Amino acid sequence: MAIYEVYSHPLLVRYRTSICSKATLFLFIVLVLTYIPPLLVAYRSQGFWLKQSTYEEQPDVHFRYEALFIALSSTSGDYLAWSTFQGFNNLVGDKLRIPLISAQEDDKNQDGKMDQLNFTLELPLLSAENVFGVQLFLTFSYKLYRMSTFVMQSMVFIQHSSPVPGAKLFINGDLRLQQRQPLGHQGLDTTYNVSVINGTSPFASSYDLTNILLTYQNRNGEYLKIIILITENLNSYCIRPMYCYISIL
Ligand SMILES: *[C@@H]1O[C@H](CO)[C@@H](O)[C@H](O)[C@H]1NC(C)=O
Ligand SMILES: *[C@@H]1O[C@H](CO)[C@@H](O)[C@H](O)[C@H]1NC(C)=O
Ligand SMILES: *[C@@H]1O[C@H](CO)[C@@H](O)[C@H](O)[C@H]1NC(C)=O
Repeated sequence: MAIYEVYSHPLLVRYRTSICSKATLFLFIVLVLTYIPPLLVAYRSQGFWLKQSTYEEQPDVHFRYEALFIALSSTSGDYLAWSTFQGFNNLVGDKLRIPLISAQEDDKNQDGKMDQLNFTLELPLLSAENVFGVQLFLTFSYKLYRMSTFVMQSMVFIQHSSPVPGAKLFINGDLRLQQRQPLGHQGLDTTYNVSVINGTSPFASSYDLTNILLTYQNRNGEYLKIIILITENLNSYCIRPMYCYISIL
C-alpha cells in the first residue's frame, strides 16, 4: 500500500551545558581550528595563487677592497696605473704608481647595513706629470636576504677624461639595482657571485676595460645589473665646455 505524508513539522534539539565543560572546550577548539589554520596557510604562502610580487629591501653592500685605477698622464696614451690585483700590477711594469687610498664605509642610520662609501684616492705625481683622465673600477659584494638569498659581486666603473689636466675629481653617486627578471622567492642564488675582474690572471685581456665591461654587461644583460647613477660635480674640470664623460654601469 502507498505511504503518503500526512503532516510535517521541524524539530529543534538544543544541547545545553555549563561554560566550564568539556563540550565548551571542544567547541572552542573547533572554532579556532576553523579560522586560524587557513589564515596561517594564506599568510605563509604569501597569497595562494600569486605568481609575481614586489617587495623592497635594502641590500647588504660591502666594498670588497678591490680597486683598479688608471690615470692617463698624457693625451697621447701614457698612463699610470695601480690595482689590488698582483697580475695587473705585474703587467703594467714601470707604469705602476702606488696611490694613497682611504676607504670608509659608513652606516648612517645604525641599522647594520652600510649606507655610504667614502673612497679617496690620491696619486703622487712628479712635477712634470699631469693627469688628463681617470678610470677606476671598484668591486662590491651585494646581498639580498628577505625572500631568496641572492649574492652577487658587482662593480662601479668611473671614467672621466678632459683635454686639459685636472687636479681633483669629485664624484658622487648611488648604487642602483637594475633588474630584468624576477628573483626566486626562496633558495640561494649565487649565479653572479663571481669576480668582476679576474685578479689571478696574468693576461692583459683580463684587465682590458672593454672586456671587463662586456663580460659584466653580458652576465647582467638578461638578469640583474648594478648601475651607479652619478650626480656630476666636476667643478674643477668642467669650467669651459668640454668633453665630460662619466660612464657608469
Ligand atoms: C671622506 O674621506 C676623506 C679622507 O679620509 C675625508 O677628508 C672626507 O672628509 C670624508 N668625507 C666624508 C663625507 O666623510
Ligand atoms: C660568494 O663569493 C665569495 C668570494 O668568492 C665567497 O667568499 C662567498 O662565500 C660566496 N658566497 C656564497 C653564498 O657562495
Ligand atoms: C682567472 O684566470 C686564470 C688564469 O688565466 C684562470 O686559470 C682562472 O680560471 C680564471 N678565473 C676565473 C674565475 O675566470
